Amino acid sequence: MLEVQGKRRYNGGIYLVLRESNMTRRRLVVGNWKMNGDHASSQKLLAEIVAGLPADTKTDVGVCPPAVYIAGLAATAAGRVHLGAQNVADQDAGAFTGEISAPMLKDIGCSLALVGHSERRAIYGETDALVAARYAKAIGHGVTPILCVGETLEERESDRTFKVIDDQIDAVMATSGVGSLRQAVIAYEPVWAIGTGRTASAEQAQEVHAYIRSKIAALDADVASTLQILYGGSVKADNAAALFSQPDVDGGLIGGASLDAASFLAICLAP
Ligand code: PGA
Repeated sequence: MLEVQGKRRYNGGIYLVLRESNMTRRRLVVGNWKMNGDHASSQKLLAEIVAGLPADTKTDVGVCPPAVYIAGLAATAAGRVHLGAQNVADQDAGAFTGEISAPMLKDIGCSLALVGHSERRAIYGETDALVAARYAKAIGHGVTPILCVGETLEERESDRTFKVIDDQIDAVMATSGVGSLRQAVIAYEPVWAIGTGRTASAEQAQEVHAYIRSKIAALDADVASTLQILYGGSVKADNAAALFSQPDVDGGLIGGASLDAASFLAICLAP
């Protein structure tokens, strides 16, 4: 449960400062393999991850391999690692060349899908509205979307971080509603920290995570208290513990370091 501690002003707006009175959220660590590897290396990497995960781990673990390898990895995942896609179509079926629908992902045992990753937004021009439509399809078909949000360096330096995050989340709330977050995950990934080796400090991450949680709490406090908010952007074995120990950081979305089993496992098992 979240209790309102007070109110804080930011950028002309007011948001609630919340305090957690009982922690109920499980930690989630998801590897985003991006466009890397091949059939053999994907099998090997996942097999090593599964072998290295203690049976009693308290962390839920997922990986998002390139789409062509997902189905072939189901047996290797052995029900111990969730399989995820790196994107999901905004349509169910039809003449949408190159897209992969939520029903198809569901069909091959894929339980997660990233939506709105900054590389999709920046390189392929995906808008907040398109991301919201993709998210809605994932929700509609029981695939858990991991909604990625985050600001560029220029946006941060011009004090627009919260505004960008507002726009990215508001588009999704407008189409799917706050209740959809019961079946979804949010990943805060500052664009300037992705693949750059420049991680947000634990305090910077916590500030934005707390903002996101308070924003959701203003719509529905219960949803906010159980929502898993992951941090992504140059998470490595040596900074994971500091990031994950922040009260509103519930795990991580890991790019580069998820391609090496030992590094990824160290992050999954961070104290
Ligand atoms: P990175 O990528 O860990 O390599 O910075 C994170 C991501 O893009 O999800």
